[in-house]
Amino acid sequence: MTSNISEIDLQTQLASGGKTELILKNPIMVGSGTFSNGVELSKRFDIDKLGAVVSKGTTLRPRLGNPIPRTVETAAGMLNSIGFQNVGLSAVVNDYAPRWEKWNTPVIVNIMGENFSEYIELVEALDGIPGIAGVEVNISCPNVEAGGLEFGQDPQLAGKLIKAIRSSVQLPILVKLTPSVADPRIVAESVAKAGADALTIFNTIPGMAIDIDKRRPTLGAVFGGLSGPAIKPVALRHVFLVSREMDIPIVASGGVVSGTDVIEFIMAGASAVQVGTATFVKPDAAWQILAELVAWCDSNEVSSLSEIHGAAK
Ligand SMILES: Cc1cc2nc3c(=O)[nH]c(=O)nc-3n(C[C@H](O)[C@H](O)[C@H](O)COP(=O)(O)O)c2cc1C
Repeated sequence: MTSNISEIDLQTQLASGGKTELILKNPIMVGSGTFSNGVELSKRFDIDKLGAVVSKGTTLRPRLGNPIPRTVETAAGMLNSIGFQNVGLSAVVNDYAPRWEKWNTPVIVNIMGENFSEYIELVEALDGIPGIAGVEVNISCPNVEAGGLEFGQDPQLAGKLIKAIRSSVQLPILVKLTPSVADPRIVAESVAKAGADALTIFNTIPGMAIDIDKRRPTLGAVFGGLSGPAIKPVALRHVFLVSREMDIPIVASGGVVSGTDVIEFIMAGASAVQVGTATFVKPDAAWQILAELVAWCDSNEVSSLSEIHGAAK
């Protein structure tokens, strides 16, 4: 017998308690920067079937991004150096949020500030806006206040930032961690203590490519972030390490291209996953992955994701 999606309990919770509740109908989210702000693909596919949409990284003011080329394919993924090309805070609040409000799927706004006060200004402007269900704080960007250190690599700074954000807003707060640390548990613990509701593990891994004909780096910005299937085993290890020690919802991001990838991440302790690079290969990848997840649950007689959550720990 084949179950349909409504017969399997796919619901997952990323934030709980009072005003900051965030419950997804299923664990399939789309990752920041790989789905634009969702409007284009919502015209072709049923957006309401997704667990959640994460916006493009949003900065205070619009940004044009880095010099081209900004993407290059690799053996099992891609490198990108988009450089935060985005429409800026005011367009997100005034043009996008009213459209998102009509969707029956939550939209989480991914934000990137250059310093403390920019992050606070961003979250305060987004708090309480209909159509915005949460923020995902990207802490893997250069930080001018700390002399070029990345927020995401400095547990004290990261904790201080999330504490300040927590005390400024009611919105659910996801914190997107960097893969560029020896032990992901240290920053994870610091931001969880500071009041993060959930952790997104993780962002792209720094890398580069060289054009041998031109004898130069391929990307205009020289370095980029590696994503796609190549990084999945690394993301899986980070999710596993953090979830074994901490009781906080984890959103896995890194190389999800199939239903079995989702099962692996859930068994490692993730509560949800983000589909990123896979969308560049197939625009409806997230929907296909959801269908594969349902089919797997069906053939393995799993009636609720709670039966397999953290099973491999
Ligand atoms: C073209 C591109 C743009 C991205 N832009 C952002 C961004 O603006 N903010 C962010 O936090 N992550 C951004 N990411 C990272 C993705 O959200 C995701 O974390 C990463 O690609 C790993 O997942 P994947 O292997 O499924 O792509 C971007 C990734 C790609 C490929």
